[in-house]
Amino acid sequence: MSLKIKEQKLRKFAKSVIDNPKYKKEIKYILSKLNLKEEEVIQAYVNYNLDVYSYGNEIYESLALRVTLYVHYLLKGSFHQERQQIMLDMIEEINPKTIVDVGFGAPTKYVKYLLKNKKSKLTLVDMYDSALKFSEVLLDYLDPSWKEIVSLKKFNMNSRKYIGNFDVYIFQDSIEHVNHATKYMSMTVKNAPKDSYFLISLPIMADIRGHTISWKTFKEAKEWLNKCGLKINSSKNVDINSKIDLFAEQLDKFHNLMVSCSKND
Ligand SMILES: C[S@@+](CC[C@H](N)C(=O)[O-])C[C@H]1O[C@@H](n2cnc3c(N)ncnc32)[C@H](O)[C@@H]1O
Repeated sequence: MSLKIKEQKLRKFAKSVIDNPKYKKEIKYILSKLNLKEEEVIQAYVNYNLDVYSYGNEIYESLALRVTLYVHYLLKGSFHQERQQIMLDMIEEINPKTIVDVGFGAPTKYVKYLLKNKKSKLTLVDMYDSALKFSEVLLDYLDPSWKEIVSLKKFNMNSRKYIGNFDVYIFQDSIEHVNHATKYMSMTVKNAPKDSYFLISLPIMADIRGHTISWKTFKEAKEWLNKCGLKINSSKNVDINSKIDLFAEQLDKFHNLMVSCSKND
């Protein structure tokens, strides 16, 4: 597909969410509170998907990018929809009291579920202010009493610090962004409470600039998790929708491995 066609399609996808009557009011509210223009979000959507080799971790600094991540989560037919449902199912099954989501990106479907069911306390953690700023606005819109359930925390995994004790640790497509990923995951697992769970998604793909580690096969990814001290209780493979998830067009292959794990010992 030519870059021009790809860009046209990407613009159309972003616009389809922004103009969707289901989300229109919400997105208008977010844009006005964050002082962003619709075009900035559409351009960020294009930049994020057009050439995945062209940027590193710094892309996540942008506020428009955070809205863009959220637009991905809402886009009909995108692989993010399946990932979000699997994560929600895994959380429902465990029914934990406390959850931390490290490198959370933007609030996904399970956050909306927790706001309604109010049974778990959730800490959303990311290294960039943009994630926290965007989430504050979205959560204000979704539920003015969100602070009873959700805390937002700025935290950089590169600090090598332990994030603290929780019943559930979520790392969704985030551990590959930290320096010394194996050491960081092993240290977190080692310190975590005995009966805690780890809900993790890993991209199975080639190396790109923003990632510090890669897994080329499901087998390799599962062996890595074992090496970090985790026992896999259940796993699901999620594939992209090649008509919608155009970021993967450049890649030889892309899959998402989603696992629910407990500690090995
Ligand atoms: C690919 S996005 C994944 C977002 C979301 N978890 C998802 O699955 O859609 C990676 C996220 O990790 C965050 N991140 C990257 N490096 C980090 C670090 N060293 N510490 C904390 N968060 C980090 C980024 O800001 C971004 O939100």
